[in-house]
Amino acid sequence: MALYSEKVMDHFRNPRNVGVIEDADGVGEVGNAKCGDIMKMYLKIRDDVVTDVKFETFGCGSAIASSSMATELIKGKPVSEAMKLTNKAVAEALDGLPAYKMHCSVLAEEAIQSALTDYYSRHPEKRE
Ligand code: FES
Repeated sequence: MALYSEKVMDHFRNPRNVGVIEDADGVGEVGNAKCGDIMKMYLKIRDDVVTDVKFETFGCGSAIASSSMATELIKGKPVSEAMKLTNKAVAEALDGLPAYKMHCSVLAEEAIQSALTDYYSRHPEKRE
């Protein structure tokens, strides 16, 4: 069996939503101290919905695929749903990651959480 699923390879080769949102409503940056990979997420939020999301990832193929899939999973979704996105859901949507690459999907979960935390710090009235 191939080490990486077709979906991982697809999102690695053709990552969706790469880039920067200059006037983002929330920005989050996280890193993994062990491997040194860094992920940055930008969110645009209107009426409690994630209307746009972009990412920059300096890291391994699994981290790039995880960021790409994570953006697809939260784009157009309510903020409350984006808050609940787990690394497991990202890995499942990619048809799995090798066990030693699961931490790459954790980075995607953490980057989104960090961007949402930034959004709430700018808009404390939105916090439930
Ligand atoms: Fe560190 Fe993939 S090896 S995020």
